[in-house]
Amino acid sequence: MFGLHVDSVEAHCGSHYDQAQMGAWFAQRSGENYRSAVEQGALWIAEADSEPVGFTEFFPGLISMLFVRGGASGRGVGLRLLGFAVNGATVGAGGVIKLESTLNARVFYERNGFEAVGSGHLSRPGGVDLPTIRMQRRLE
Ligand SMILES: CC(C)(COP(=O)(O)OP(=O)(O)OC[C@H]1O[C@@H](n2cnc3c(N)ncnc32)[C@H](O)[C@@H]1OP(=O)(O)O)[C@@H](O)C(=O)NCCC(=O)NCCS
Repeated sequence: MFGLHVDSVEAHCGSHYDQAQMGAWFAQRSGENYRSAVEQGALWIAEADSEPVGFTEFFPGLISMLFVRGGASGRGVGLRLLGFAVNGATVGAGGVIKLESTLNARVFYERNGFEAVGSGHLSRPGGVDLPTIRMQRRLE
C-alpha cells in the first residue's frame, strides 16, 4: 500500500507541488498508516494481472483517498475506482459526497460531477502544508 501510494504521488503530483512539499509528503509515514482503514474494510485495491495498480478509501459521504500507480494511469483505473468509491460512499451519505482533492486531480473530479467548494491543506512535519481543494458531489 505504502509503495503504491508513494509511486502515485511521485508520478502525478510533482507538477503542482514544489520540491519541499513533495519531500515532506510521506515524512514519518509508513504502511502502518493504512492498517486502521484496512481493518474497517474501508480500503479497496484495484488489480490488473494480479498486481495492485490503484486504491481508494471511502466512508459514508466521504472519499478520503484515490490513487493510481504512475505506470497504470490513463487506462481507466481511476475512473473505475471513482465509480466504485462513489457507489460505496453513497450508502448513508445524507445527500452529498465530499473529498479533498490534490491540486493536480481537480479537473478529473470536476469531469465526474464534483464541484470545488473551498480550499484546504494537509499538514506535514516541519511546518510544510500541502494545499488541497475541498470538493463535493450532490446525490440525486
Ligand atoms: C487522478 C487519477 C486518480 C486519475 O487516474 P487514471 O487512472 O490515470 O485516470 P483514468 O485513466 O481513469 O482517466 C479517466 C479520464 O479522466 C482523465 N483524467 C485523468 N487524470 C486527469 C487529471 N489529473 N486531470 C484531468 N483529467 C484527467 C483522463 O484523460 C480520462 O479522460 P477520457 O475518458 O476523456 O480519456 C490519477 O492521476 C492519480 O492517481 N493521481 C495522483 C493521486 C491523486 O492526485 N489523487 C487524488 C487525491 S484525492
